[in-house]
Amino acid sequence: MEPSKTTLGLELPTDPRWVNIAEKNIEDILVDHAYCEQKAASSCISLIIMFPEREKLLEVLTPVVAEEWAHFELVIEHLKKRGYTLGKARKDEYVSRLNGIMKKGGTRDEQLVERLLMNALIEARSAERFKLLWKNLEDEELQRFYYDLMVSEAGHYHNFIDLAKEYLPKEKVEERWKYFLVEEAKIMQTLVPRADRMH
Ligand SMILES: [Fe+2]
Ligand SMILES: [Fe+2]
Repeated sequence: MEPSKTTLGLELPTDPRWVNIAEKNIEDILVDHAYCEQKAASSCISLIIMFPEREKLLEVLTPVVAEEWAHFELVIEHLKKRGYTLGKARKDEYVSRLNGIMKKGGTRDEQLVERLLMNALIEARSAERFKLLWKNLEDEELQRFYYDLMVSEAGHYHNFIDLAKEYLPKEKVEERWKYFLVEEAKIMQTLVPRADRMH
């Protein structure tokens, strides 16, 4: 049977319990979210540092760095406004498990595409989570905020997928992307929804 599809091709929708517990722990969610934005900016910077000769990548990802950093600033503002502080980073089990999906070795282009697809995957899942927050939070300001972020991260998902297709044939990228989606769904199935994590 065809698995039910959620936004951006994800195989498995988020456990519906997550948004209810997230709503009650908005401080933890905002803190974790701030770190997600920081990591998104840093991941784009790393790609630019590792692949400086790829002109298209430089052209597409330079503005994405600025957007992710602006998201980070906005989350910090929302924390501050509510009397919370950033505090220390937490262990990101979702991302550390996702890293195991990437193929080791291969050509430079293959390595680049693995990284681009990993970023696309995190963007897709983040957009899906932001959609839930937009639709379910009671705080109207945060609702608007998560709507805007959902749109922005969905755009980044397309940026990463399109970039991957610049460096490897379309069919090869699609085959790897399918594998990423299946593996991500397996990881999602084993992660217990946590009140203090964005993923
Ligand atoms: Fe972002
Ligand atoms: Fe993003």
